[in-house]
Amino acid sequence: MAQQTALVTGASSGIGTELARLCAADGCNVVLVARNPERLATVAADLARAYNIQARVLAADLSDPAAPAQVFEQLQSTPIDILINDAGFGLRGAFAETDWAADARLMQVNMTAPAHLTKLFLPGMLQRKRGRILNVASTAAFVPGPFMAMYYASKAFLLSFSESIANEVKDTGVTVTVLCPGPTRTEFFERAGITGSKLFQGPTMTAAEVAGEGYRAMMAGKTQITAGARNRWLMRGVRIAPRGMLADFTRRLNLE
Ligand SMILES: NC(=O)c1ccc[n+]([C@@H]2O[C@H](COP(=O)([O-])OP(=O)(O)OC[C@H]3O[C@@H](n4cnc5c(N)ncnc54)[C@H](OP(=O)(O)O)[C@@H]3O)[C@@H](O)[C@H]2O)c1
Repeated sequence: MAQQTALVTGASSGIGTELARLCAADGCNVVLVARNPERLATVAADLARAYNIQARVLAADLSDPAAPAQVFEQLQSTPIDILINDAGFGLRGAFAETDWAADARLMQVNMTAPAHLTKLFLPGMLQRKRGRILNVASTAAFVPGPFMAMYYASKAFLLSFSESIANEVKDTGVTVTVLCPGPTRTEFFERAGITGSKLFQGPTMTAAEVAGEGYRAMMAGKTQITAGARNRWLMRGVRIAPRGMLADFTRRLNLE
C-alpha cells in the first residue's frame, strides 16, 4: 500500500502536535495546518527527522471562511487518508458582552472549518473506500456552558455532526471519530484567558495522553471517545443529570 498522508489542523501545539506525532510514528506523511508558520516548521522538522516521513507545512487561518478550500486546493495531488480536525479555541465572557467578531471567528474555526474540510475531503475517501476522520470536540459538548456559551455550543455541534456523519458512512471503509477531552494541559486555558478557572485547578491530562486515546479510537474506527477514565465516569453522571442543574454547575466552573 502506498504511504498514507494525514492532514492535521491545530498541529502547531498541544493535542494537535501529539496527534500529528502519532500519525508520523505510524509511518504516515503529515500535512500540518495552523496559523503560526514558524511553530509548524519546528514540528514538521522534528517529525520528519524522528520518523523518516515527509512533513509539509500549510499555514492557514481557519477563521477565514476561504481557508478550507485553499487548503484543499493545495492538496489536489496529495490524497488525504486521515483528516484530523483539531484546531479550536475557547472564549470566556457573558454572551451579552463578548465581541461578535470574536464569536464569529470561534464558530468558523470550531464548527464551520471542520465541517467544510470534511465536505471537501470525504468524497475522495469514499471513492477510494478508505479513510479516517477524527474531530476534536470536548466534554463541553455534553453540557450547557454559561459564560463560555459559544465554545460549549460549538463542541456540541461537532459531537452531533461527527456522530451523524459516522452513521452516514458506515460500511464504506471510511470512519468518523469524535474525541471529547476533558481539561488538558496545553495552551488552551491561557489563550482562552481562563488559567484561573476551577477546571484547570482540578485533575488534568497531558496532550500526549489525550491524543493517544483519540488516535487509538480513530484507528479502531470507534465513533466517540471521551478521554480518560475519570472523564468517562463523570460523563455517565452528566447523561442523567437535569440540564438546568448542569448549567448551574458549569456556570460556577466558568466564573473564576
Ligand atoms: N486543552 C483542553 O483542556 C481541551 C479540552 C477539550 C477540548 N479541547 C480541544 O482540543 C483542541 C486542541 O486544543 P489544545 O488544547 O491542544 O490547545 P492549543 O495548544 O491552544 O492548540 C490549539 C491549536 O489550534 C490552532 N488554531 C487556533 N486558532 C486557529 C485558527 N484561527 N486557524 C488555524 N489554527 C488555529 C493553534 O495554532 P495557531 O495558534 O498557530 O493557529 C493550535 O495549533 C481544540 O479544538 C480544543 O477546543 C481542549
